[in-house]
Amino acid sequence: MATASCENPAETIGSFDAPECYKQIVILAIETSCDDTCSAVVEPDGRRALSNVVHTQTEHARYGGVVPEIASRAHLERLDGVVERSLSDAEVPLDDVSRVAVTTRPGLIGALLVGVAAAKGLAYARALPLVPVNHLEGHVAAAYLTDPDLEPPFIALIASGGHTALYSVDRDRKMRLLGETLDDAAGEALDKGARMLGLGFPGGPAISEAACDGDRDRHDFPVGLKGRDNLNFSFSGLKTSLLYKLKAMDGERLREELPHLAAGYEAAVVVALSRKLLRAVDLHDAPAVVVAGGVAANTLLRHTLEERCAKTGTDLVVPPPELCTDNAAMIGAAAPHSTAIAYPEYSSLSASSV
Ligand code: KG4
Ligand code: ZN
Repeated sequence: MATASCENPAETIGSFDAPECYKQIVILAIETSCDDTCSAVVEPDGRRALSNVVHTQTEHARYGGVVPEIASRAHLERLDGVVERSLSDAEVPLDDVSRVAVTTRPGLIGALLVGVAAAKGLAYARALPLVPVNHLEGHVAAAYLTDPDLEPPFIALIASGGHTALYSVDRDRKMRLLGETLDDAAGEALDKGARMLGLGFPGGPAISEAACDGDRDRHDFPVGLKGRDNLNFSFSGLKTSLLYKLKAMDGERLREELPHLAAGYEAAVVVALSRKLLRAVDLHDAPAVVVAGGVAANTLLRHTLEERCAKTGTDLVVPPPELCTDNAAMIGAAAPHSTAIAYPEYSSLSASSV
């Protein structure tokens, strides 16, 4: 383990024994990959967040989905204030920041670039190292904030608006893809289903709310690829099934059936996700499971997995809802295990949509 001196804190990269003068050193993390403008202050081992500020852009609701140009502009307008707030909430001055972490991929390119430019500016002005973080690794790292004793190996399910995939996370934290969606992401299927049902955006919470008093068995919805041995997902058949059901109903019938349709649709997504996740656990004899991404905030999914994992004795780590949806604390949590770029070598660092 390297030791840090007090003369030049900016050059220290990796974990080290902190002398007295380093008492407060922290990671400042920024996340702007989609429609949430986020900044957080995280302890250097990535196991505790001192602040976690999320500004969710409400501008997109009227369009029923995220508009990339609006997202970039809104990040640009709000990021400075969000960063300032994350430092003040953590009661940490900028002087105590030892490195800056930022999401560089995947996501909306214009939105990512706003965060990357801000992070580069902050790090450069203070001669700090910069840590590029993969958004998906960030979602998984939310589990380290949730259970500070968690160590790999485990199976991770990421289910968000843009991604639905199963990974095996090895002892060295490398993520190996086991299966993924062949069409829509789970969150995307919920968002599109909600739009068809005339519910709000984002669709996941809207469908859950509408499903509250619904009978999930009243309508038969297909669970994609359920009989297949692979660990992939498919949600296109589910969407088509809802579309045909709606076409066969008039307005009055739809109003009556809305809670049941929402409940059946939500349950089909939950069954698809939990079935493949538990199959992966079985195949890989995994001792623990992590569920991450916005859809992991879903109460039915959480309850289903709690019940099933309790039966099999599998440890289940699902972050609290505010760490499941996009946030910067998870980016800070991934930073200690991502490769830092020393000052000033990140001037040409860019972002990538994939
Ligand atoms: O991870 P996230 O915040 O952003 C992406 O990286 O995509 O995930 C957003 C997705 C949306 O599709 C939203 O409908 C879904 O997560 N979501 C939920 C819930 N909260 C957000 N889905 C089901 N139940 C929820 N409570
Ligand atoms: Zn996400």
